Amino acid sequence: MNSCIVGLQWGDEGKGKVIDILAEKSDIVVRYNGGANAGHTVVIAGDKFALHLLPSGSVRPNIFCVITNAVVIDADCILQEIDALAQKGITLKNRFLISENAHVVLDYHKKEDQLREDSLGKNKIGTTIRGIGPCYADKAGRSHAIRMADFRNLEQLKDKLQAIVEYKNKVFTALYNAEPVNADEIFEKCKFYADKLLPFVTDTTEFLHKSIAAGKSILFEGAQGSLLDLDHGTFPYVTSSNSSALGMSVGSGVPAKMVDKFIGIAKAYTTRVGAGPFPTEQENEIGQYIRDKGHEYGTTTGRPRRCGWFDAVAVSYTVTIGAIDAIALMHLDTLAGLKEIKLCRAYKIDGKETTFFPANIDRLSKATPIYETVPGWDKDITEVNDFYDLPANAQNFICLIEEMVKIPVTIIGVGPKRTQTIFR
Ligand code: IMP
Repeated sequence: MNSCIVGLQWGDEGKGKVIDILAEKSDIVVRYNGGANAGHTVVIAGDKFALHLLPSGSVRPNIFCVITNAVVIDADCILQEIDALAQKGITLKNRFLISENAHVVLDYHKKEDQLREDSLGKNKIGTTIRGIGPCYADKAGRSHAIRMADFRNLEQLKDKLQAIVEYKNKVFTALYNAEPVNADEIFEKCKFYADKLLPFVTDTTEFLHKSIAAGKSILFEGAQGSLLDLDHGTFPYVTSSNSSALGMSVGSGVPAKMVDKFIGIAKAYTTRVGAGPFPTEQENEIGQYIRDKGHEYGTTTGRPRRCGWFDAVAVSYTVTIGAIDAIALMHLDTLAGLKEIKLCRAYKIDGKETTFFPANIDRLSKATPIYETVPGWDKDITEVNDFYDLPANAQNFICLIEEMVKIPVTIIGVGPKRTQTIFR
């Protein structure tokens, strides 16, 4: 049984916990998109692990972890995470692989990310400044790309870096009036990365197909959320990878046909970090209530997240493009204490009602949400472990979501711990 987990909103849906729960039943966990911009928090026996690049399965000693071709590798970040696990006695030896085709994020990518964002002023995207966009741009441009396989030939890498850095420095100094970067320093770092990471580097596509043929069970873990997908999200306020379920196959070399189940993760409300349209946003005391109660501050950047009501138009869209089979609805406990709860069931755009999400932001910016309002509940639900022990209003809220998005909600999160999860 192979499954894939993807966020159905703008990221931060609580994928880490669900992945961790499902990883226990898998042999291999695969990260297939994005880079150190992601932030998964996994809590095990009171220990909190904030992972940016390593697959969430890495915290479980018997799970094999794979980072595939479409992930951009921040070697400093991976090495820090490997060290942090080692400090808790968890080793990745003999159970971790990185694709030789994965591209590498270097210092000049982070610098470029920062300079470009600063130069955009009020039009900035609000990136995580992890160098993600510039690294994927170099991948698409090809001639300035560095991949993990390049660490195998350091002499050639040195020459390549000289040429790339020369070009980058022209841009940094002439266009942004910024300090140049030093090619030798970057090369020295690469030598260190090569030494530490090459033992893990291989053809992960071959490994995954052989594993599938051998009957292994694989869990594909998507980073970010479907609405941040470069091609199908709210462009340009997106990330630079395919973060919807559609990215799984190109990102790993394994066709979607070989995946038995796609599970979408959504919060019982909506959040977004960075800029871009957000029809159900609540820039008021409701938004603040959700932010405070749900601890809605970024794992990667610490930024306060924008908060709003559950948007069934947006989630139905990401369910549709991803052929999602079931939903894990997280953070239901956060809504406790609200007198009324709203769910957006349609948009009005230019006087016309629609239930199909317009990813094009010119149209999305004009969308006025049409809400269904339901009564809330007061009871703390963080200890509930059976759907039928939830307050009737909470049960109704979930049933209404199922009616709107037309697939079942099979997992419900009622708190950050693994044990605070209801299965239906
Ligand atoms: P980038 O991926 O750093 O280029 O950022 C592009 C957009 O995606 C920004 O709005 C970020 O806030 C958002 N983003 C990137 N990674 C995540 C994530 O893991 N969770 C939520 N938003 C993210």
